Amino acid sequence: MSDPVYDLVIRGGTVATSSDVFAADVGISGETIVALGKNLGAGKKEIDATGKLVLPGGIDAHAHIEQLSAAGLVNADTFETATTSAAFGGTTSVICFAAQHIGMDVRKVLTDYTALAKRGAMIDYAFHIIVADVTDKVIAEDIPALVKEGYSSIKIFMTYDLLRVHDEKLLDILAAAREAKALVCVHAENHGIISWMVKRLLDKGYTAPKYHPVSHARLSESEAFTRLIAFSELLDQPIMIFHVSTREGAAVIREARGRGVKVFAETCPQYLFLTMEDLDKPGVEGAKWMCSPPVRTTDDQEALWRALDLGDLQLVSSDHAPYRMDETGKLRAGPNPTFKQIANGMPGLEVRLPLLFDAMVSKGRLGLSKFVELTSTAPAQIYNLPNKGSIAIGMDADIAIWDPLKKVTLSDAMMHDLAGFTPFAGRELTGWPTTVLLRGSVLVEGDTFNGKPGEGRLMLRDGGKAAAPSGRLAAEMDPARNFGAKLL
Ligand code: URP
Ligand code: ZN
Ligand code: ZN
Repeated sequence: MSDPVYDLVIRGGTVATSSDVFAADVGISGETIVALGKNLGAGKKEIDATGKLVLPGGIDAHAHIEQLSAAGLVNADTFETATTSAAFGGTTSVICFAAQHIGMDVRKVLTDYTALAKRGAMIDYAFHIIVADVTDKVIAEDIPALVKEGYSSIKIFMTYDLLRVHDEKLLDILAAAREAKALVCVHAENHGIISWMVKRLLDKGYTAPKYHPVSHARLSESEAFTRLIAFSELLDQPIMIFHVSTREGAAVIREARGRGVKVFAETCPQYLFLTMEDLDKPGVEGAKWMCSPPVRTTDDQEALWRALDLGDLQLVSSDHAPYRMDETGKLRAGPNPTFKQIANGMPGLEVRLPLLFDAMVSKGRLGLSKFVELTSTAPAQIYNLPNKGSIAIGMDADIAIWDPLKKVTLSDAMMHDLAGFTPFAGRELTGWPTTVLLRGSVLVEGDTFNGKPGEGRLMLRDGGKAAAPSGRLAAEMDPARNFGAKLL
């Protein structure tokens, strides 16, 4: 046998990128893909990928890991368990959150979360900075400095009692982000509508989890999107709208993008595969399916698939937010809480890709290249992770090798996170990532996990393409159009 040319060769598989599907061997040296082609030279190690699909590892751009909620709850997972579960599901990079609450110093928050990730992460990670307390210091000092250091996305909530940022402060954040070239990600729902609905429902005795979707009226989403987009347009500041759940919300985004507003948007598997009927269970069982915004209807699912197809929505992220069905999580207020007392969120890092693969590749909806685009290439481009998101020479060798024929029935017991359940239990899926590589090292091999806590690496990011304003503010400054902006 000839001397090895590569450290590792993945041989005989079908490679897919967001634009092409082709037969090729993949040659890896160190952490990097260095060759693609037929009959590559020998590797020190070889993986036989005959009959398999060789895809870039998934990038999950929205996951809550070891995060403290405003109510004082911490997610069920640690970085170790969350990122292990991600790897078993074919995901090799994650963007999670450093969450500031009222009175907290943003830089200290970031230092603390970074320390947790550094200790536990099995896959590469970056942070969105959640700002809840929009002080002058945050605007004038923290945002400019942290964006320069590589933390180039900020997350804001328009709802939740202790997190929400009022309109004027939201404008301050958008203006600071424009200056610093950061992307602003937003949980956009109308707080007033939700609070009013919650009170009316509880007053009338409608307390079960199934009333949670009723309280988050559909209009609360489209109203908040419309208002947020107006702010984005006023300041010519790009935004990312998180977790789109309704047909009307997707339509608002389509119309704005059509006008050239720099609005990006994601949806999540729960909005593509679950409906509000899933919450209609005896007792508080429906709490497992509670997230915000809530899951909606099959008609919304169809609209979201269409919006993904058209490019109105560019990403499918998990919004992994695991809380156990016990006193540490969903049942913290006791065994019979009202829906308002139940923590929102569900686990999803591990099942995001298999659910989408089954729908998009095995069942044929939108196809393999679109699957790669939505789950890996687009998040890398939008959030500026230049070495991630594709199988190409020079890229990090983050690779998931999929057995497209493997059938798996999802169950609570098989999950590697600590939520204790998956809202997708019982679904039979076709296609599963059987071998997963992080920067050239085999992390997952069947049921075996080879990763070590702390091997994941912090990814610092420039503002990037998505964060750059388009220059439309010049038009907004035209006194004939908007005299006020001229005075800013
Ligand atoms: O219900 C959810 N999604 N919980 C996590 C926090 C958020 O709103 O993204
Ligand atoms: Zn959210
Ligand atoms: Zn979230």
